[in-house]
Amino acid sequence: MIKTHIRIGKTILKKPILGASGCSGWGNELLRFNDFSKIGGFVTKSITLNEKKGNEMPRIMETYGGLLNSIGLENRGVDYFIKNILPEIKDMECVKFLNLAFFEKSELEKMIAMLDSREGFDGYEINISCPNVAHGGISFNSSAADATSLLSGVRKMTEKTLLLKLSPAFEDSFEIGRIAEDMGFDGITFTNTYIGTAVDVKSRSFVFKNKQAGLSGPAIKPLSLMNVHKMRKKISIPIIAAGGVRTADDVLEYMILGASAVQVGTQLLVRPSVLEELCVELEERMKDLKIEDINELIGSIKE
Ligand SMILES: Cc1cc2nc3c(=O)[nH]c(=O)nc-3n(C[C@H](O)[C@H](O)[C@H](O)COP(=O)(O)O)c2cc1C
Repeated sequence: MIKTHIRIGKTILKKPILGASGCSGWGNELLRFNDFSKIGGFVTKSITLNEKKGNEMPRIMETYGGLLNSIGLENRGVDYFIKNILPEIKDMECVKFLNLAFFEKSELEKMIAMLDSREGFDGYEINISCPNVAHGGISFNSSAADATSLLSGVRKMTEKTLLLKLSPAFEDSFEIGRIAEDMGFDGITFTNTYIGTAVDVKSRSFVFKNKQAGLSGPAIKPLSLMNVHKMRKKISIPIIAAGGVRTADDVLEYMILGASAVQVGTQLLVRPSVLEELCVELEERMKDLKIEDINELIGSIKE
């Protein structure tokens, strides 16, 4: 019997495969394409305290082997989520993490206070890594000192599983990962998108109003593999890897380098049934490679 269970904090994932934030909607959109009792779970799109309109169009552009996005965290706010979305998703038979984004620390604290006594989800993925919103022009994730003051005290607010999502754009991400481990976070989601841009040659202007956008998809996989490897050297809590996952071998590559699970983002936009299909493919590949327990694979890279 092949074993694919993974533990992250208090959460047990049946399969080490989750839908990534922003590409899984609120989960219910994916139900038509995936049997949720057969997948690991998903992370909701980012929720903010108040409704957020998002960036001007265009917000998405296909690139060679990837996708640039500049969505800007559009959502209806936490109150709307609690009243309208949580009742819809609470009974889904898979793990659910709520991705929380914020502009001031007090907003994060208010959101956790409003959500934490409720049932129907397993934990939070705290997002300090969005490349598409500016906070005085600086990303929260760009300095370890900023991140430390933002995150201190958060662990005391919840007993649910607590993940921190980090950007690959800053060298401080590795130090922030270590600080989060010391603070008692249960895992690190790595990586968010890479900062990129695109130019409209006719008008000689940036394609995106924000100038920059986040690059995702197969093009970033080698970069994220290396970043996961570097993060593994810094921390010992679980890493949930993200970046261009499409195939079972992509999952295995990340896990051999030290990830405990992976998230699938852009590929969901191409193949919405990929979560269930990938879980089946993973078991088949494990049989081929005579791997009985997925846990034996984590961090097994020969150096
Ligand atoms: C269209 C789109 C929207 C996204 N929105 C969010 C978001 O709201 N919050 C977040 O933390 N990450 C967001 N991401 C980043 C993904 O969750 C993931 O970290 C990244 O895309 C890398 O994985 P991938 O290469 O499999 O897409 C978004 C990505 C895409 C492509």
